[in-house]
Amino acid sequence: MTLSLLCLAGDGIGPEIMAATKEVVEAACAKSGDSVILTDKDIGFAALNAGYSTIPESVIEAAHAVDGVILGPVSHNAYPPKEEGGLNPSGVLRKELDLYANIRPAKSFDGLPTPTGAPVDLVIFRENLEGFYADRNLYAGTGEFMPVPGVAMSMRLITERGSERIARAAFDFAGGNGRKKVTAVHKANVMRTSDGLFLEVVRRIAAEHPDIQYDEVLVDAAAALLVRDPDRFDVIVTTNMFGDILSDLSTELAGGLGLAASLNLGSENVAAQAQHGSAPDIAGQDRANPTSLVGSAAMLLGHLGLGRAETLIEQALKTAIANPLTRTADLGGPLGTRAFASVLVDFIQKADA
Ligand code: IPM
Ligand code: MG
Repeated sequence: MTLSLLCLAGDGIGPEIMAATKEVVEAACAKSGDSVILTDKDIGFAALNAGYSTIPESVIEAAHAVDGVILGPVSHNAYPPKEEGGLNPSGVLRKELDLYANIRPAKSFDGLPTPTGAPVDLVIFRENLEGFYADRNLYAGTGEFMPVPGVAMSMRLITERGSERIARAAFDFAGGNGRKKVTAVHKANVMRTSDGLFLEVVRRIAAEHPDIQYDEVLVDAAAALLVRDPDRFDVIVTTNMFGDILSDLSTELAGGLGLAASLNLGSENVAAQAQHGSAPDIAGQDRANPTSLVGSAAMLLGHLGLGRAETLIEQALKTAIANPLTRTADLGGPLGTRAFASVLVDFIQKADA
C-alpha cells in the first residue's frame, strides 16, 4: 500500500523531531513492504516569516488531499494576534478537517520507572471540537466575551452529535482492541445541562455495547484516582477541556508527556500530533526526544491500514527506551535526536520479516 502523508514540522524542536520521524516511518514502511510519500509544508513561524498566517490556506487544502497529516509542535503562545496571522495551527486543523476525536494513549514503558511506581495503560478519547475551546468550535457564536469591562465569560458547547461521535469512537476502539471498560469522565453534578447531555448520550451508546463495562467518574475524582489507582481505568471518554488536562496527567504518570503519542481522528481525515510543546529552549541542539511524534506517526500508519509498520515502530521504541544506553538525554541516556532515530531504524531493519 502507498500512503501520502503531509509533514508539518512546526516550531522549535519540530523540524528535528519531524526529520527523525520521517526517517523512522520510511524505514518501517520499507520493512513492511509498503511505501509512503512524505510532503513537507511550512506552518508556524516558518509560514509567518514567509508572509503567510501560521496555518496557510494552501496547507489546509493540502491536508484535505493526503491520506494523513503528521503535525509537529507549535509555539502558539509566542504568535502575534490572530489579526496579524497568529492562528493556532492545531486548533484550525482540527476544525477544518473535522477531527472530532483526540486519541491519547498513556502507557508506561518497560524499564522506565513511573512517578508513582505503578504501571499505566489507558487510552483517553477526548472530544476535540467542542467544550470551552472556541478556536475549533464548529458552531459560530461560541467562545469568550466581555459583556462589561472587568467581566469575562466563556461559553461551553456540548452537542448531542459531538457527544455521540466521541462516544462511538471510544466504544468502537474498546471493542476492536480488547479493552474491557469505558469510563465517562464528567462534572454533571455542577454542569447539569451540558455534562448531563454528554452523559445521556454516552449512556445510550454504552447500552449498545453490553459486552463492554461502563462507568462514570467525576473529573476531580478521576484526577485523584489516576494517581492513586491508574489500573482502574481502561478507556476514558470525556469532553474537550477535561481530556486536555487528564491526558497530560495520565501521560506524565506513565513516564512523561514527551513520550506520549496522540492521533486526531475525523470521518475523512486523520492527523498524528506530538502531545508536547515546541521546546524552543533546546531547539537546534539535537537534544529533543522524538518519541511522541514517532509514536503518533505509528498510530497514524496503523489507523491507515499499515499495522505491520505501526508494530515495527512501537517495538523499536519499546526496545530503545528499555535500555538506558539507547535513550535520549531527557531520559538520562546518551543519545541525541539523530542518533536515537538511527537506533530505531536499525532495530526496525533487524526486526523479523
Ligand atoms: C493539546 C494542546 C492544544 C489544545 C493547544 C496547543 C492549543 O494543549 O493539543 O492538548 O489546547 O488542545
Ligand atoms: Mg493540551
